[in-house]
Amino acid sequence: MTIFTHLFSPLEIGELQLKNRLTMAPLYLGYAGEGGTVSNLMLDYYREMAQSGVAMVVVENATVDHPTGSGSNRTIRADTDDNLKGLAQLAETIKKEGALACLQINHAGRFAGAEAPVAPSAVETFGRIPKALSQKEIRDVVDKFVDAASRVKKAGFDLVELHGGTGYLLAQFVSPRTNKREDEYGGALENRQKFPLEVLAAVKDAVGDFPVGYRFLADEWLPDGLKLEESSQFATALAGAGVAYISVMGGTYESFFLPEIVEKSKKKGYMVDLAGAIKKEVNVPVITAGRLDTGELAEQVIGSGQADLIGLARVLWTDPEWPKKVKQGREDEVLLCDPECDTCMQLVMKGKPAFCVRWPHEKMRIWKEKFQ
Ligand SMILES: Cc1cc2nc3c(=O)[nH]c(=O)nc-3n(C[C@H](O)[C@H](O)[C@H](O)COP(=O)(O)O)c2cc1C
Repeated sequence: MTIFTHLFSPLEIGELQLKNRLTMAPLYLGYAGEGGTVSNLMLDYYREMAQSGVAMVVVENATVDHPTGSGSNRTIRADTDDNLKGLAQLAETIKKEGALACLQINHAGRFAGAEAPVAPSAVETFGRIPKALSQKEIRDVVDKFVDAASRVKKAGFDLVELHGGTGYLLAQFVSPRTNKREDEYGGALENRQKFPLEVLAAVKDAVGDFPVGYRFLADEWLPDGLKLEESSQFATALAGAGVAYISVMGGTYESFFLPEIVEKSKKKGYMVDLAGAIKKEVNVPVITAGRLDTGELAEQVIGSGQADLIGLARVLWTDPEWPKKVKQGREDEVLLCDPECDTCMQLVMKGKPAFCVRWPHEKMRIWKEKFQ
């Protein structure tokens, strides 16, 4: 028995049965092999996440276009059949532990690690100027999303998620700050949302009844960036176009490190307001993430109807026993991610595999051995 009756109640998304309202939100930790292969370290990581008892594990961003669209050389590759076996192993590993397996696919656009990144427009990005995509190149990227999503299905995942968050390519098109195009892909919101809607339509066309989720940028947290007023209209369009769920987040690499955003992001449930606003506009399940680290808060978010599902990223990685401890009333035993600590982010930004300073000594020792 648990006092958190909303949190541990099931939910259906189409044909999919989610055993509770807990999901793992995508968390890139630099565990893939050099060149984006599915390594043993990565399989161990996702096995542990699936064993936690969450209903669905959303695997971190995998590239649809290497190297042009990859965040780093340790971004999983979903763009080649060379990786199909590894992807199939990953899906099987997660499903074997009783969780639904989802893979997030992405094109990093102007935030790619590539030498010559591409974007909707040539807007300076951390000292570099990306190349504006031609219409032909836009169609090629749509095809690459289709190809990757088809591979995700073939690999045996239960669903695929399009990464429209963190200010990556899909979001770069929607943003008035990074999309300065003068053709049919730029200007009014209707035009700026055209590319992600085309990607969604093409992917759905190719994968049939295979569910397609969407990681969604609700607010860039930048003065001239995308805000709720427009993003909520885009969310309505996505829901109308048949996304399986919308997973709401805020911020991009250009806002994450601003002092006021750093402070905001330390607070429990710091993105729930965005999810609640989007939830009012759409008739598909909404996921919310961001330091939802107490059973009481997560229960209240679901119970009050601000979201349908909870996304746990660092919360679950710090303590994979979180769901069990919360369900069994053992919350005093939970190891909490420290809001003042940024070690995992700093490590992955330096291209190193991440560890959590809160892990018990023995776990740290075992994981450090695996990193070698
Ligand atoms: C190191 C790190 C890597 C992340 N990787 C991804 C990713 O690959 N895709 C994604 O959509 N979000 C990613 N996120 C965002 C998380 O999914 C989540 O929204 C955020 O960390 C808040 O949840 P939490 O407080 O439980 O960590 C990442 C966050 C961190 C800190």
